[in-house]
Amino acid sequence: MKIPITKPVFDDADRAAVASPLDTGWVVQGPNVARFEANFATYVGAPSAIACSNCTTGLHMGLAAAGVGPGDEVLVPAFTWVASANAALYCGATPVLCDVSLDTFNVDLNDLEARLTPRTRAVVPVHLFGLPADMGRLMPWARKHGLAVVEDAACGLDARIDGQHVGTFGDYGAFSFHPRKAITTGEGGMVLTADAAKDALVRSLRDHGASKSDATRHAAKNAFLLSEFNVLGYNYRMTDMQGALGVTQLAKARWIHDRRCALAARYDRLLSGLSWLRMPVVPEGWTHGYQSYVCLFAPETPTFAALERLRAERDALMTRLEEDGIQTRQGTHAVHTLGYYRDRFGLRAEDYPNAALAENLSITLPLYPQMTDEEQDYVVEHLRARR
Ligand SMILES: Cc1ncc(COP(=O)(O)O)c(C=O)c1O
Repeated sequence: MKIPITKPVFDDADRAAVASPLDTGWVVQGPNVARFEANFATYVGAPSAIACSNCTTGLHMGLAAAGVGPGDEVLVPAFTWVASANAALYCGATPVLCDVSLDTFNVDLNDLEARLTPRTRAVVPVHLFGLPADMGRLMPWARKHGLAVVEDAACGLDARIDGQHVGTFGDYGAFSFHPRKAITTGEGGMVLTADAAKDALVRSLRDHGASKSDATRHAAKNAFLLSEFNVLGYNYRMTDMQGALGVTQLAKARWIHDRRCALAARYDRLLSGLSWLRMPVVPEGWTHGYQSYVCLFAPETPTFAALERLRAERDALMTRLEEDGIQTRQGTHAVHTLGYYRDRFGLRAEDYPNAALAENLSITLPLYPQMTDEEQDYVVEHLRARR
C-alpha cells in the first residue's frame, strides 16, 4: 500500500471553476477573487477578507501595513516555516525568535515575554499545524506593550478558540492555500483585518499601491484614467483562476474539516496505547484545524542532551515506514538552525532547545479527507510494529 502524507481534494466543480475565467477572458484578480473573499469572510466570521498570492506575501503586507520597518524587532516562534520570520526581514526589521512549547508546538509565552525589548514592534503568533496559539493570553499582553499582532494562520483554517476563528484576534491574520493546507488554490493566501482603514491599505499594498483595483476601474466611468499610487506597494494579487478554485474549495471546507477531525480522533484512539508517542492535545473549547496530525517521538522525556540519539531512533522509524510505503514528515523546521538564520544572527541549536527538539523529534502522520479506515489502520499497524 502507498500512503501519501496528504492529498488535495479536487472534483468536477473545481475543474470547471478553474476553466471558467478562460471563457470570460478576465484572468487576473477579478469577480472570482471577489467571490472567494466574500465567502471566506463569511466562513470565518470576519467583516471582509483580502486575497493575495500566498501567505508569505500576506504576512509581509500585514507587517508593512502595521508600520514595521528598519530598527524594529518582530517576535516570531523558532519552530515554524521560514516564511514567518522572513516576512519581518522583508520589512527591514529583525525577527527575534522565541522558543516553543513541546506540548503544543506553539510559542512559549514565557519565552516571548523574556525576549521583549524597547525595540519590539510586533509579534507573529503562529497557529502551527492548525492548533491555535493561546490568543486569550497573548492579545492582552501584546496590547499592554503596544505591539502589532500579525497572526500566521497559514495552517489555521477551521482553528477556533471558543468559536472565534484564528486570524480574527490580531490586527491582521494571514492564511495559506498551498496544497499542504486544508483547501488549496495551488499557491494562494488571504489576509483578514477588522479595521476598514487597514483593509483598504492592504488591498492597495497587494496591487502596487494603487488606489483602485483594475476590476473596479474597468467597471467605472472614465476607466481610461489610471489609479493614484500614494504608497509603495507590491504585486501580490491572486489570479481569477485561483479565486474561482478558492470558491469551490471553500464550499467543501466544512466536509474536509469534519473528515480531518474524525480521522484525528481515530488516530488518537488507535495510538493511545503507544507510550513513546505524544499525540496532539486540544484544550477544552478549542477547535484544532488539523492541517497536519503531528506527534512527538518521546520514548523518554526529551532533553537537548539526548537529541542526537533520539533523532537517530526517530529517523530509523521514519525510514522503515517509508519502506512500507507510508510517507511521514518532520513537523516543520527550527528556523534558527537554517543556514541563513544561523549564519546571519550567529544562532546555535541550543539557543532554542524546544524548537530544535520539535524539529528533530516530530513525526507528521498521513492525513487527508479521502483516507479510508483501511489506509489508516495500515499506518497504525506499521507504526506499532516498526518501532
Ligand atoms: C506556518 C506557516 N507560515 C507561512 C507559510 C507560508 O505559506 P505560503 O506557502 O502560502 O506562502 C507556511 C507554509 O507552509 C506555513 O506553514
